[in-house]
Amino acid sequence: MKKVLVIGGGGREHAIVDALSRSPQVGRIYCAPGNAGIAAQAECVPVKDTDVQGLLAFAQEQGIDLTVVGPEAALSVGIVDAFRAAGLKIFGHTQAATRIESSKEFAKVLMDKYGIPTAGYRSFEDFQEALAYVNARPFPAVLKYDGLAAGKGVVIAADAAQAEAALRSMLLDEAFGKGRVVVEDFLTGPEFSFMAFVDGEKVYPMPLSQDHKRAFDGDKGPNTGGMGAYTGLPFLTEEDRVFAQEHILEAAARAMVAEGRPLSGVLYGGLMKTPSGIKVIEFNARFGDPETEVVLPLLESDIYDIFEAVATGRETAEPVWRQAVTLGVVLASKGYPGGYDKGAEILGVEHVDAKVYHMGTKRDGERLLTAGGRVMMVVAEGKDIRDAHGKVYAELAKIRCENLFFRRDIAHWALDGRILDGKALSASIKEELKDRVGKLAVKYGRKPSLAVIIVGNNPASQVYVRNKVKTAIYVGMNSRLITMAEDATEEALLKMIDELNRDPEVDGILVQLPLPKQIDEARVIDAIAQEKDVDGFHPLNVADLWLGRPCTVPCTPKGIVRLIDESGLDLGGKTAVIVGRSNIVGKPVAKLLLDRNATVIMAHSRTKDLKSVTLQADVLVVAVGRPNMITGDMVKPGAVVIDVGINRLPDGRLCGDVDYVDARLRASWITPVPGGVGPMTIAMLMENTVECFLARVGE
Ligand code: AMP
Ligand code: GLY
Repeated sequence: MKKVLVIGGGGREHAIVDALSRSPQVGRIYCAPGNAGIAAQAECVPVKDTDVQGLLAFAQEQGIDLTVVGPEAALSVGIVDAFRAAGLKIFGHTQAATRIESSKEFAKVLMDKYGIPTAGYRSFEDFQEALAYVNARPFPAVLKYDGLAAGKGVVIAADAAQAEAALRSMLLDEAFGKGRVVVEDFLTGPEFSFMAFVDGEKVYPMPLSQDHKRAFDGDKGPNTGGMGAYTGLPFLTEEDRVFAQEHILEAAARAMVAEGRPLSGVLYGGLMKTPSGIKVIEFNARFGDPETEVVLPLLESDIYDIFEAVATGRETAEPVWRQAVTLGVVLASKGYPGGYDKGAEILGVEHVDAKVYHMGTKRDGERLLTAGGRVMMVVAEGKDIRDAHGKVYAELAKIRCENLFFRRDIAHWALDGRILDGKALSASIKEELKDRVGKLAVKYGRKPSLAVIIVGNNPASQVYVRNKVKTAIYVGMNSRLITMAEDATEEALLKMIDELNRDPEVDGILVQLPLPKQIDEARVIDAIAQEKDVDGFHPLNVADLWLGRPCTVPCTPKGIVRLIDESGLDLGGKTAVIVGRSNIVGKPVAKLLLDRNATVIMAHSRTKDLKSVTLQADVLVVAVGRPNMITGDMVKPGAVVIDVGINRLPDGRLCGDVDYVDARLRASWITPVPGGVGPMTIAMLMENTVECFLARVGE
């Protein structure tokens, strides 16, 4: 069995260690310096990644069969040259080959010489010359400091003032050290990452992936080391991929051989699909981070074999990749990429049913603590991007830490209109409630308790009530399901409600609607004690809601408003159109949106020229129960669209009231069906039950 040493200690190295641990040839894995997550799969060695002599001595003492280098810093100080000189096998580029990353100008000259498509450029050493050139050209200007600057040496200057400030700091101040600046044409289009294992001219490509560099949703905020990534890019065709492989990766590999600097590690193409074709933004001489964390889980081949083949110049079979997609979300410390605190406890990681790669964590006895800006990455695999998206956010909700944040819109390129993911949001609400319910049970010596009554055997209703009871149990409440026959009398139902009203152990009562014809729904709802009306349907709750008094807010409207809040839209002065005027959805939603200072228009399915009304909506809420009645052309571009409908199509598939496929291209945010409002309704029911419990115990 082989002994392997991995150099580095971030999420990328955790993914490399994880892939190596699946190799049948690998016995022991060491990682220098590693991290708290890696420690579960490898033996961490406290040697710095740039301490070439220390690492060499360790590899020799331990009889390491193969060393794999993660970070560029180790490559650029010549670790590969040193190991090879000592007769050790190592995966990574020589110092000479690492120039493709470490010098922007070297890379530009190389691309020019060998016809590899990239932005036009000129490079400067003199501040005045650079400034004159930049000012004579259109803005924005792309300024790249020539030297290894860990991704921080690029400034996109919007105007002359910004350009001058950047050039000043790059060429005159000592901030960057003495250097040169590459001034590039500004390109537009989606960026993506294309990595390959490269040995001389042999190129073994990996799946395409895309990083999300900005800190916040909507690609806003400062640049970071990467807040998430996914595979399965929607905007690239197979021709694009083949073009990039042949004209960029293979061309660069040949060019490096011709230059006497053959590659022997990972070549990373940071590429852009511009209107005039795919072009190189940058090359890196190593695995990308966080791309590696989403790419390597798809590798079916033995990674040791690939590393060893590249390290020794031997041929190997084309690597095999699983036909699935992955999506990974980074959890970062609040404040990152600026200043942030360390040492916050992270709970719940052991419950996550997905890969968790640690980036900056530390153990303190049994406790897991944050220890960096980017802390960990949760990666899920799915059959398609929506599947992976739902899974990753549901799993991530299990991780609790007061000092972490994450982006909710990873893979938005693949999801078009950002989805308002009710499944993910409700999962995090349920986790919080679970916590709270546990504490309440200790404090009051009993758990909040929900009674659910179903009359008859309507199949949809049965699914709903089972879900409600199951969720109540999941969050730690007591829950009782009371089933009455289809022909039960109104008297029998009222008697049951009366008993539950008087039962001190019951905090919430819910009667699943619709009821069989012989029963008057209004009378039944009236019979539920107001303080136990977790649905918020009782006339006294309805009245209190409209009068602005404390009350139980109906679950679906409450969930809808939470989802709208998630979009970050400030409703003040905005127009909301509600299509559907039911007492349990349309009307209460109208009231809640009015309370948030929106202008509210109520419409219904027979409103004349409905389209002219819906086109005014900054927020469009649809609850009419008519499959796909709101078509894409009825949605105002940029609107937030909330689809409450759940309809079954003749072929058995579910669909909403909104034509999702069309509407999501116009909406800025949209709820999917299922997975939008539905799960939120259930989460709000749980919240209402806890609130009824609190009111009853006098809190
Ligand atoms: P780099 O460190 O070279 O990856 O650059 C950082 C980021 O700057 C890239 O990911 C791009 O978003 C942007 N960028 C770099 N070069 C260009 C260019 N020529 N045109 C437009 N954006 C660029
Ligand atoms: N994800 C960008 C990089 O690794 O450089």
